[in-house]
Amino acid sequence: MRLDKVLEQQQVGSRKAVRRLFQRGLVCVNNQIVREEGFNVEPALHTVVVAGKQLDFTGHAYFMLNKPQGVVTAVKDSEHTTVIDLIRAEERTPKLYPVGRLDRDTEGLLLITDNGQLGYELMHPEKKVVKRYEVVVNGALDELDYQRFAEGITFIGGEQCQPAELTILTSSPEESRAYLDIKEGKFHQVKKMFLSVGKKVVFLKRLSMGPLSLTTELAPGMYRRLNASELKQLMPYFETKNRNE
Ligand code: URA
Repeated sequence: MRLDKVLEQQQVGSRKAVRRLFQRGLVCVNNQIVREEGFNVEPALHTVVVAGKQLDFTGHAYFMLNKPQGVVTAVKDSEHTTVIDLIRAEERTPKLYPVGRLDRDTEGLLLITDNGQLGYELMHPEKKVVKRYEVVVNGALDELDYQRFAEGITFIGGEQCQPAELTILTSSPEESRAYLDIKEGKFHQVKKMFLSVGKKVVFLKRLSMGPLSLTTELAPGMYRRLNASELKQLMPYFETKNRNE
């Protein structure tokens, strides 16, 4: 959360008074003077002291959900249960939304937050955030497939994908299992990539996104708040570069 918003939330003073506090070097984060009003702070990571008084503030919400199959990645849906419906009512706030999209039949890691800027940064193609998927397909995978993914798949219709890394775990003519690491997020991207090499995806699960990895204790449908270490690793993706961290 931006430091100026925290000071506003805490009713430290008028906008003008808050600006003056910054100018006079009276705003400290983890014992360092911060003059940047847009500096991002999270209660799990930062102690904020203003004019000698420590603030007790609440930050954004960050949930890691293991999305189950059958649930849609949306905030509202008239027909299906949404990923937001899976968040308990007492923890659900109006601005919560899913970062990125998983198909209804895809399961796995989904970040749900009310920090709009973080979602924007994580999804921005220029950030090239790596997403790892576990994939099961209905045919054999081999070295040629590995090379085609590494060179960059071209979809039927001509759309070009960036190079991706395929790690083949098991392969047989009936069924193969692999990890796929991609750095972009085109619509139905993984399924279309495998279709381009003649295989149908029969199971798809996202295991990680950037620094976040799905943890084993989260059964499908379960979620938890991100811990301090995960939040710290997400920091580089926050709106304003926190220069003195
Ligand atoms: N690629 C897909 O095809 N589907 C998903 O749900 C995610 C990535």
